[in-house]
Amino acid sequence: MTNPTKKYYFRSIEHFVLTGVLILSGCSLPQRTHTIKIGLALYDAHDTFISEFSTHFNDNIKESSEDVQLESYDASGSQYTQNTQVAQLIDNGCDVLCINPVDRTAPGKMIELARENNIPIIFFNREPVEEDLKQWNRIYYIGSSAKGSGTLQGEAAADYLKTHPDADRNRDGVIQYILLEGEPGHQDSIMRSEESVETLEEKGYVLEKTDYAIANWSRQQAQTKITQMLDKHIELILSNNDDMAAGAVSAYEQAGIPRTERPVIIGFDGTSVGLELMKNEQMAGTVYNNSNIQADMMFQLASTLARNEPLTDFHLEKDRRIYIPYRKITPDVLDDFLQEHDHPAEDPSSFNSYIHPTRQ
Ligand code: GAL
Repeated sequence: MTNPTKKYYFRSIEHFVLTGVLILSGCSLPQRTHTIKIGLALYDAHDTFISEFSTHFNDNIKESSEDVQLESYDASGSQYTQNTQVAQLIDNGCDVLCINPVDRTAPGKMIELARENNIPIIFFNREPVEEDLKQWNRIYYIGSSAKGSGTLQGEAAADYLKTHPDADRNRDGVIQYILLEGEPGHQDSIMRSEESVETLEEKGYVLEKTDYAIANWSRQQAQTKITQMLDKHIELILSNNDDMAAGAVSAYEQAGIPRTERPVIIGFDGTSVGLELMKNEQMAGTVYNNSNIQADMMFQLASTLARNEPLTDFHLEKDRRIYIPYRKITPDVLDDFLQEHDHPAEDPSSFNSYIHPTRQ
């Protein structure tokens, strides 16, 4: 059965070939008959972005014409638990491991186990450091490039501030802001926090950091932290993800603060949570972290590795990495984005306009 969504993504990917962003040739895959078994290890299945990623990955398997078995585990934030789960996946005969590591700086044990058993690993979303990716030539990474992500977020904030001068509520020519940060040490928290602020400054905005909060990607933690800051003058919240942005919105809602007295809130991910906030005009911008294409690509790579087929159809960057581009979502492109997101078009040419500018 042909999946129209998949057709669209693969046409999109072919389009990226032309732009030099991501190369997956249009060659048809060989006829595949024998059953393969994929092991999936999630750092925390309650994370909204990861849960959407995992749903897309499962959909790929369900819609595949290949005979694929999936065994998946949730480590609930414990690297120790994940090490045990990966050992179990290997014992249970998985042909390939798709791992979303809890601690991206400590995948050593899992690599060692996989290597001893010659089972390839695809790490995803939480990017191991270079030394670990270099440890073995059957380790891969799929995600979006952390570098450049904060630039797009800064641009989304700048686009909004430019057209809404009232966002500087005390009219002092300075934007008082706070950063809502994800997990410390996560490649995405680091780059989004740094680059978003730098981009706004490069665009001429004078910023004053009123405060910051680490909320570990969590809506609840963000709500608690922002509730404690409600007495501060905040004009802009740059949140490392949409869930924490949603927590900030809830803090203002619960306190009964009218929208005109709230800061501009910018998120990241374009999850269903984030898109809902955009539709309700409670969030002024976000950046789409395309879990759909990432999951699709991971499935294609996993099944190719599991069958020991050549990887000639994949363009791998340094240390066998595949990066999927982001898209900036601002209120003016929201309707078009939702249209494409909910009803993928046959002709993806408009997709190009959202491709990461530095990677075009
Ligand atoms: C980021 C994503 C966050 C969170 C995190 C988990 O890429 O933006 O929302 O899911 O990954 O590693």
